[in-house]
Order: sequence, then structure tokens, then C-alpha cells
Amino acid sequence: MHKIISVKKTLCLSVVVCFLLFVFSTIFFGCKKQSTSLNKSNSFYTNEYMAVSARKEASETGAAILHKGGNAFDAAIAMHFVLAVTYPQAGNIGGGGFMVAQPTGEAPVALDFREQAPHKAHETIYLDDAGNVIPGMSVIGHRSSGIPGSVWGMYEIYQRYATMAWSDLIQPAIQYAQHGFVLTEKDIVELQEVAKGLDSINGPNVFTSKQWKPGDTLKQPDLAKTLQRIALYGPKDFYEGETARLIIQEMQQHGNWIDSTDLKTYKAKWRTPLTGFFYGFEIITMPPPSSGGIALLQMLYMLEKLNIHTIPFHSMQYILTVAEIEKLAYADRSKYLGDPDFISIPTDSLLSKNYLNKRINHLGIPSVATPASEIEPGIINGYESEETTHFSVVDNKGNAVSITTTINSAYGSKVIVKGGGFILNNEMDDFAIKPGVKNQFGLIGGKANAIQPGKRMLSSMTPTLVKENGRIKMIVGSPGGATIITTVLQQLLNVLIYNQGMQESCDEPRFHHQWLPDVLYLEESWKEKQELLDSLEKAGYMLQFRTPIGRVSAILRTSDNRWEAGADRRGDNAAAGK
Ligand code: DON
Repeated sequence: MHKIISVKKTLCLSVVVCFLLFVFSTIFFGCKKQSTSLNKSNSFYTNEYMAVSARKEASETGAAILHKGGNAFDAAIAMHFVLAVTYPQAGNIGGGGFMVAQPTGEAPVALDFREQAPHKAHETIYLDDAGNVIPGMSVIGHRSSGIPGSVWGMYEIYQRYATMAWSDLIQPAIQYAQHGFVLTEKDIVELQEVAKGLDSINGPNVFTSKQWKPGDTLKQPDLAKTLQRIALYGPKDFYEGETARLIIQEMQQHGNWIDSTDLKTYKAKWRTPLTGFFYGFEIITMPPPSSGGIALLQMLYMLEKLNIHTIPFHSMQYILTVAEIEKLAYADRSKYLGDPDFISIPTDSLLSKNYLNKRINHLGIPSVATPASEIEPGIINGYESEETTHFSVVDNKGNAVSITTTINSAYGSKVIVKGGGFILNNEMDDFAIKPGVKNQFGLIGGKANAIQPGKRMLSSMTPTLVKENGRIKMIVGSPGGATIITTVLQQLLNVLIYNQGMQESCDEPRFHHQWLPDVLYLEESWKEKQELLDSLEKAGYMLQFRTPIGRVSAILRTSDNRWEAGADRRGDNAAAGK
């Protein structure tokens, strides 16, 4: 905590410096907000550094910190806190997430700041006396929340890699909470969708205090005070101090779920990232308790084995091949994956060539859909046992950071901590609340992801880095619940195999199969390709059109050594840098 003590003295100076940084950042740095139309967006390039996120305020903050000489970790911490203010549907201090990063000159690292189940949680907590799921209990309200991990996560990153003072990194967020940020059209649509839930749980609250119009400014004074305390006292405030007291008071008034022991015992954990090779590119990704890394590496291996590069992009054969291997990976996810501190995960077996070759034996070059009912999780020898947000940062010192963070649904549990002004997650729904019963993303699970006190719920978040010849080539990730893994997969295929630019890749329509339900999900824009859809139906797929899949924030090193942003036009994503 030594860095925090000295911080008090610099607090006033920091406020002034940061405010000035913001005023000037938009003048000095390019900032590209992507168009909301379905037309192709223009690419945004920089030479030195770049930050891409779901909000221009966060990306500009990241770029301003990098301009000031901070590194990618400094920028990422500041961006995480700014997203907690300006993107309250997913950015958070009441949730959790994962980071995969390349610190300059060191081995890549992975940080797990995922929420965990309170000690009162148990396997049947969301079931009634007859053993049936109590509708909504794991999704809305106080009991849907896991112990938040984000503040610990940011502090871990700060202790290991930051070069700037902790409080300086939180000042930008405090400014946005105090002085407000401008609501976009998409913000207002999302707020309207959750307004009833927010009102029913909290009564009058800052998010529904008026009929918002695009361009209105939303201020969050309680959140500003919470962030000021965190700036002064670090995680001690959130897990043991005044903010902890506010969380516990909130909980005591509504069923006594998360308590002081839960908060005091929470810790973020460093994990070893998963690595694999795909057509010679090194893929560095998130291990459990995310399922993302294992599933991604499984799919990439199987696709290389099936010579995906010989199949024309977005042809019938392409969609069929990708969808068939997606089913296999999601079937394994349902059985084998969970919190590695509670179950033994057969990672090596699941990623072994032998096993994966056997998994695709029946496929050859697939020409028809295999019904999901004919697919099961593989057999392993010796085995025992839609709101989130992603941001990517690269600096000019060789550091690269990929963070996905979440409160699960939009506005999480809808619980706003009284006096604290922040929203608690509803991450408990990511557990298998009853074996074989699907969660809000249609995902099923069993024993491996059953609820236990102190256990972390299985995630699909897939923050990922790609290296080529030892140098960072791509930083990528997305929100999207179950569709996160297949969204990241499609970004890798589009760029690494089909030579697309990063923005071009984000603009491509997406599809998704997760084994169960046995449905091929497609974005609306596929409707323009009727012939293709007919042949997919003929091959045995049940097609379903759905809302946009994923909101990617990515960065690519181009062949002429510049950085290209991928800022998804499905959201208000934006890039900034120099
Ligand atoms: O950790 C997970 O996999 C989910 N809680 C992510 C939720 C999500 O991406 C919702 N956003 N669209």
C-alpha cells in the first residue's frame, strides 16, 4: 500500500492534471467512433500506441495516459474505471473479469479477477423444495451476485506493472462520475430495456431519474464518492472499508447474502495463460475458470487439421465446417470445465492432438450437420472429475493488454448499492444452477460447474493475444455471453486466414453454434444470402436469426508496422491513439 499513502498529497494536483488531459486529449489524439450504419466502416491506424474500447471516453483516457508516458497497464486500469462510469451496462467495479497481457521482455500473464460464490452459496440454492429452478433467482436481485473482483484485479495489475500513481489512474473516472458523460442513442435504448428492473429493485435511482434523450448528461455523485475512496485507500476501501460497509448494509436489508467474510477473503489470482499455435501464429489466451481459451484452442486446432484455408470464406462449406467444430468444443465445455481450484480439469487431454484428431474423425470434410443429439462430450482417459465489455491496449514499449470485464447481464443484478452508486453483478447465473438446465445464454453444465462456496463460475470470456515471430500481432476479445468464444474465433479466422484488416473483420456478419440448443444462430444481415441459407437448411441446420453477435474491440499490427483498430459498429466502440 506504500504507493497509496504518498498519493494523498498528489490528489489535488492529479485532479487538475487529469482534467486538463481530458480537455486536450480529443484535440491531440485521433478518436474514431464507428458509424452505426451497416455500411463498412473506415479503418483507424496509429504508429505508436492505441486503445480500443466500448466507449470513446475510455479509449481517449487510455490514449491520454499513454501520451503522458504511462504504459499499457496504466492505461488499462484507468480505462477499466472509466468504463465503470461511462458504460454502466457492463463496465464495473461490482463485477469481475480476466486479463491476458504481454509485459515487455517477460512471459505473457493471465489475471483472474472473476467473481466467486459467497460462503452461503450451495449447489441447490436456486432450487425450490421440489428441486425445480426458482425462475429469475440467479438472474435478478441480491442473491444473483457473486463477490466482486474488479477492484482487486485492477490493484493487482497496478502493483505488478503500473508506473503511475494509483489515484491518478482513477481520477479520469471520478471526473466522469462527477461532471457526467453524454448518453448515446444505444445507451438510452439499453436503459429503457432495464428501467423497470432497476426501479423495482432500487426505487428512484440515478439511471432512471428522467426520460433521457441522446446528448443528455448522466452524473453519478455516489459513484464519484466511492471512486474517490478507492483512489485514496485502494482495495482496502472496497473489501474492508466504507464501500464494504455499504455493500454489507445493502445485503443485510435484502436477505444477507454477501457478508464481510466474503469480501475480506476475496483475492484476484494470477494464472498461467494457455498457448497454442495456429498456422504458425502463437495464440495466448485465458485458462479456466474461463472456458474461452480451451474451447478456442480446440477449435483452432481442429480447423487447421481440416485445412480451413482451402475453403472459400463464408461459403456453405466454411459455415458448415466451423459450426461442426463449434458443437464439439461446446459439448466438451459443458462437461469438463469449471473453477480449476475446485475441480481437476483435463486441460492437456482436451488440447491433445490425439484427442482432437479423434473428435473430428467422423467429420472428414463435413457436408451435412450432425444432429446435436448425436454429439456428446468426448471421452478422456484418466479424467476424474449479453453485457460484458472488452478493451485492448498497446503501448510503444512492447506491452499489450487484453481485458474482458462483466457484470453478466446488462446492468447485472439490477441492484445499485445504496450510497455506493454502483451496480452488482448477476454472475451466479454462470454456474450450472441445476445439472442440464440452461442458463440465460442457453448454456448447460453439470458437476464441474456446480455451485460451491468460494468457487468461481465458469465463464466464456476470451481475452486473447496473437504473436507472430515473437511480436504482438493482435489483441482481441468481445462480450456476448456464449457467443464470445465463436466471435473471437471468427476474428482470428478473418484476419489470419482470410487476410482481412481488423476493422474489415469486425464488419463481417457473424454466426454461432453452441451444440445445445441445436440451432445455427445468424445475424440478420445473412438474410441477404438466400441461396446459402437454403443450402444450410438442406444440410440439416435449424437456422435462427438474432440480434448482433459480439462487440469486438481489437488491435492489429499491419504488415507496414502500424496499429489498426477494430472497433465494432454493433456498439459505440471507439479507438484512440497516436
Ligand atoms: O462470463 C461470462 O461468460 C458471461 N458472464 C459473459 C456475459 C456477457 O458477455 C453478456 N454480454 N453480452
